[in-house]
Amino acid sequence: MRLLVTGGAGFIGANFVQLTVAERPDTTVTVLDALTYAGNRASLDPVADRIDFVHGDIADLDLVDELVSGVDAVVHFAAESHNDNSLAEPWPFVQTNIVGTYSLLQAVRRHDVRYHHVSTDEVYGDLAPQDPPFSEHTAYNPSSPYSATKAASDMLVRAWVRSFGLRATLSNCSNNYGPYQHVEKFIPRQITNLIEGVRPRLYGAGHQIRDWIHVEDHNRAVWDVLDRGRIGRTYLIGADSELDNRTVVELLLAEFGREPDDFDHVTDRAGHDQRYAIDAGPLREELGWAPRYADFRAGLSATVAWYREHESWWRPVKAATERAYTDAGERTISLP
Ligand code: NAD
Ligand code: TYD
Repeated sequence: MRLLVTGGAGFIGANFVQLTVAERPDTTVTVLDALTYAGNRASLDPVADRIDFVHGDIADLDLVDELVSGVDAVVHFAAESHNDNSLAEPWPFVQTNIVGTYSLLQAVRRHDVRYHHVSTDEVYGDLAPQDPPFSEHTAYNPSSPYSATKAASDMLVRAWVRSFGLRATLSNCSNNYGPYQHVEKFIPRQITNLIEGVRPRLYGAGHQIRDWIHVEDHNRAVWDVLDRGRIGRTYLIGADSELDNRTVVELLLAEFGREPDDFDHVTDRAGHDQRYAIDAGPLREELGWAPRYADFRAGLSATVAWYREHESWWRPVKAATERAYTDAGERTISLP
């Protein structure tokens, strides 16, 4: 199979490409990535001589058309992916997540190429503590410019399936963690702070809940959907690992032998979603998927070890990332 992977120099995409090269020798991989601040060629170093890398924008219609004409399937990871950035400047999210997806859809439609769309559970908005988890029947209700533009891109895919008979599937996954995640995101930010001897930064009281999944489990589910998913369907991906943010910080502090209250509360995020949770029943029952990292604590320890061992990967962007948070107005707060 000839595969085009968009966003393959980002967190989930790079892990997907590495997994594919390791376990699917019959697949040839071309990566299309614009190398924004979130993309890093070094994340593909272990497979650099086994893939083709194209530096370019998914919204470049001619480039995308040419690349899509030469493959059997497209897996679309490329996106602007960070909520905090979308609050500071929404335009790149509209351009990449909506216009960029449009560009890919037109090309796969023209060349009748199989398409898989990687999306997020954040399109569903958030849940109250007693609500049942999201399912594929939950109504879309996004909260931020990030989740709104991902929701819009999902809707484009569904419309292209219905109106043009596109051979497409969608997946909406919960919060990922693991190697190669940018240090702007919650878990790697706190791990790298702790390595530097800086206190973790918890938004508000830290009562928000996320449903964590290891990136490798996400990517194995994407392959299951590509292999055996029903065209036109949406699959929710999650590993039943709901934890509030404060608990995650406490687990990380324990990994570093620090006291459980050795962190700072900082300014909360505007419009902060309270809780995400996924019902991955259909993925498990229909496609036989199950997470290999069923124990979040073990997965978190392995991730801490990875960041300790790969300082040269994250160090070059750490200071600028922290400066951007400070410039955006993040400051320490005291709770009543
Ligand atoms: P990321 O920000 O780490 O990587 C995004 C990649 O896309 C980068 O390599 C970047 O250079 C590239 N890119 C951005 N704009 C581009 C453009 N216009 N053209 C080509 N390449 C471009 O993101 P991630 O965390 O790896 O997320 C990948 C996908 O998975 C996204 O679609 C995201 O919405 C989805 N997702 C992420 C999570 C999560 O927890 N991180 C959870 C569910 C779904
Ligand atoms: P994040 O990794 O940005 O993912 P998402 O917004 O997609 O869930 O944040 C995860 C949670 O952690 C979210 O509730 C916000 C919170 N958070 C902090 O408490 N401190 C931080 O420094 C960051 C970046 C996030």
